[in-house]
Amino acid sequence: MPRLTVNDRPVEFRMDPQTPLLWALRDAANLTGTKYGCGIGDCGACMVLVDGEALRSCLITLAEAEGRFVTTVEGLSRDRSHPVQQALVAEQAIQCGFCTPGIVIAAASLLSRNADPSEAEIKAAVPNLCRCGVYPRLVRAIQRAGRVTRRLETISAAPAPGITAEDAAQSVPAMKAVDTPHAD
Ligand code: FES
Ligand code: FES
Repeated sequence: MPRLTVNDRPVEFRMDPQTPLLWALRDAANLTGTKYGCGIGDCGACMVLVDGEALRSCLITLAEAEGRFVTTVEGLSRDRSHPVQQALVAEQAIQCGFCTPGIVIAAASLLSRNADPSEAEIKAAVPNLCRCGVYPRLVRAIQRAGRVTRRLETISAAPAPGITAEDAAQSVPAMKAVDTPHAD
């Protein structure tokens, strides 16, 4: 059975290794922040960090994720205080929110490599589709998040804390934690 690290927890998925990582995260691990959009690699709603790189989880199998470090939007920041999350809220760059988790992941990956991206660099690194059309605000928000990352600015706005990644994963039969007392 595939073993990988999800949001800093070593886990074993009791699933077919050819299962797309997206299905495993949503249906088995109950990490539903990662969205099921197109399912064919076009929209970016399913993006997660895999060893720090923003990848479309609908295109990766559990077997391909074996041994790697996966971070979903639930694990990016325990208190929703990642600069990208704060800046998206502060710039009101969220409408229905469906695309937001994937965008947060793509932007966080970009800022980890380049904390002062140009508009062109943002558009190249964050190709996610948004049916609500938040694109202009998105560029402003990611550049603002970059300033926060570079400690040129602070933002106090943040979404209210919700369910933690640990809580979301605890009661899921298909997801066995390797090293916690919550394993079943
Ligand atoms: S659901 Fe994966 S790219 Fe759209
Ligand atoms: S905010 Fe609705 S899809 Fe982007």
